Amino acid sequence: MFKRGFLQNCVQIAFEQRIVKQCQRNIYSTSKMADKFKLPNRYGTGEKSVWVEYIQFAAEHKPAVNLGQGFPDFHVPKHITQALADVVTSDNPLLNQYTRGFGHMRLVNNLSALYSKLIGREIDALNEIVVGCGAYECLYCAILGHVDKGDEVIVIEPFFDCYEPMIRQAGGTPKFIALQPKNDGHNISSADWVLDEAKLKSLFNEKTKMIILNTPHNPLGKVFTQKEIELIADLCKKHNVLCLSDEVYEWMVYEPNKHIRIASLPGMWERTITVGSAGKTFSVTGWKTGWAYGPATLMKNVQVVHQNCVYTFNTPVQEAVARSFEFELARYDSPDCYFYSLAQELTPKRDYLVKILKENGFNPTLPEGGYFIIADWKKLENKINLNDQPEKYKDFRFTKKFAKESGVLAIPPSAFYSEEHKQLGENYARFCFIKKDENLALTEKLIKEWYTKGL
Ligand SMILES: Cc1ncc(COP(=O)(O)O)c(C=O)c1O
Repeated sequence: MFKRGFLQNCVQIAFEQRIVKQCQRNIYSTSKMADKFKLPNRYGTGEKSVWVEYIQFAAEHKPAVNLGQGFPDFHVPKHITQALADVVTSDNPLLNQYTRGFGHMRLVNNLSALYSKLIGREIDALNEIVVGCGAYECLYCAILGHVDKGDEVIVIEPFFDCYEPMIRQAGGTPKFIALQPKNDGHNISSADWVLDEAKLKSLFNEKTKMIILNTPHNPLGKVFTQKEIELIADLCKKHNVLCLSDEVYEWMVYEPNKHIRIASLPGMWERTITVGSAGKTFSVTGWKTGWAYGPATLMKNVQVVHQNCVYTFNTPVQEAVARSFEFELARYDSPDCYFYSLAQELTPKRDYLVKILKENGFNPTLPEGGYFIIADWKKLENKINLNDQPEKYKDFRFTKKFAKESGVLAIPPSAFYSEEHKQLGENYARFCFIKKDENLALTEKLIKEWYTKGL
């Protein structure tokens, strides 16, 4: 007979062995699961998003003014919001139901009317325009619909951050070229940020499928000149390359600058897809409605990705955007037209924020377009301790620490550079000026208090 204690020990050991085995099985199956369900490699660097990080940061730290993300904090003209209210409560029940997949008829007809005039050719509303969930989805469809494994895409830095992960998802390789300031003196404007022509030429080769142009530019505010656009157009034609032209800030251009649509240049319509945004055009970023237009041969591919992604998009918003376009097209030749009055309204805001930044130790670049200001904060380095911030890049450390200390949140521009060029953005912060005057005045007060503390 075994003693009771011995039996108990045996049971205990057997029990423990079972638990160990179970744990081993669990670890094995968890790591097997982790392997199997990891993010597919095609998403490349797309896992991290500055927007996700900074929206979370703003929610946690509640800065007094958020000049980070680009959206207006004021009301837009009444006819725009009224249009949406009218649509959803209209007697026509179909306005709240699915609409045509590639774009609601009334909207594509208005887009055709507007851009036919601007591009100087008749644009076919049915086959040459696709409406999607913001310019963002249109960029996605244009990139995924054209870029394939082995293709190269030329991307001008700094760049709207989604371009890179979209290219990589499509199996393409981005080839980066940075706009660089001609000098770092005072009174620098976005026109001083230029491309190295020889370097740009050297990037074009037989693998180049696409170049992405963004004018007016986010975050620099650069409005590419006729000469710069002609250079890009000539290279596209010479090397049989498609131009994806992101023109979401097309109406935010400050005098005396002029927005040039590359699709309107000789020989460029056939090889250009242009992207626009109702969110930017009518200052309703939450409506997330955008469009792409170009020749039917290229738009076919955009349609295929769109139909296999979201297929169709929000009917009432499209109808309201269509009505807003009709309203503005009816007064297109008047300075009251929102397409022009918005830039007039934004000019003093831009100048005010540039002045605030200059007076308080920053060196801002005066933007010619868009609604962002990029400002060099190098001279403020001795006023802020960045050593206790864990972030890898200096501009992430600066913008977070600055927001905690001053109450003003900006965006770190290194997010708009490729891994190999992050250092080019590290001494800057991006501020948005499409904000109420009272919030800009509060910005002045907060930045001044922060700057003069301890002087
Ligand atoms: C350069 C650029 N392209 C595209 C977009 C996306 O526009 P949407 O909000 O219409 O998707 C933005 C938004 O900030 C942008 O700055």
